[in-house]
Amino acid sequence: MLGIVLEQSRRGASPRVRRRRALVAVTAGLLVLIGGGAVVLGGLTGRAASAPATTAAPTKTEPATPPAEPRPSPSASPDPAPAPTFDRAAHSIDDPNSIWVVVDKLRPLNPTDYSPDDLVDVPVPFANSPQLRQEASDAVVSLFAAFTAETGLALQSQSAYRSFDAQTRVYNNDLVNLGQAGADLSTARPGTSEHQTGLTIDISAQPGQCSLNACFADTPHGQWLAANAWRFGYLLRYPADKIPVTGYEFEPWHFRYIGIDLATEMHSEGVTTLEEFFGLPAAPSYG
Ligand code: DAL
Ligand code: ZN
Repeated sequence: MLGIVLEQSRRGASPRVRRRRALVAVTAGLLVLIGGGAVVLGGLTGRAASAPATTAAPTKTEPATPPAEPRPSPSASPDPAPAPTFDRAAHSIDDPNSIWVVVDKLRPLNPTDYSPDDLVDVPVPFANSPQLRQEASDAVVSLFAAFTAETGLALQSQSAYRSFDAQTRVYNNDLVNLGQAGADLSTARPGTSEHQTGLTIDISAQPGQCSLNACFADTPHGQWLAANAWRFGYLLRYPADKIPVTGYEFEPWHFRYIGIDLATEMHSEGVTTLEEFFGLPAAPSYG
């Protein structure tokens, strides 16, 4: 650039003028050079000023919060396992050794002289010394204890296991006193009584109050039993409104052990007879 300025200053001027132009040109060139250097220096200085004084650690920037994992919506979760259905075939209703055996006027025990092999004396107060199968005995001991704990009252056993021969004596006694129709409404013929299974007990108040009488249902004892026997696996077997089904008059004292599972199921379903629960024919008579 300085060469161009000098060359231009030589053309068409007096020596003095050329010298002055030359001087001006040189001065201008110097200024240009100084200016360029300043620009250069300024540029360098600017970069240095903008640079950090020390090598600072790179600013740590938190990574952006990643998007949340998509959660399965409640409707996408698997359905909870369905409640298990009650197995009505879990035990035989025909085998006399089964706690579900159904015995009525159309379903005699087989064999008719059946006798359980696990009878035990039942450790509860009694009018007549009671025996039951072990499981039924344990359950009724718990029932008696719960009754007394919850009411402050006491129960006793009137009659529990009865052999074929013992049932024969009871039935024949009723025949004499009540006649055939009356006997069949209150006492099972030998070989068809639940008492012969070792799973049944007649319960009364202690001291006695309406023992073996329909008015037992109105006592606190009878009312508690009707409401709570199922908790211990017992069923009020002959309800007042089921005479056409069971064939027997109302017996609020007669409780049949069927196990807690079945008793609970019948209670929750509101079914009160074994015939209805298992879809068996009503048994109002011996046919
Ligand atoms: N009182 C009941 C029906 C029985 O004799 O088994
Ligand atoms: Zn009975």
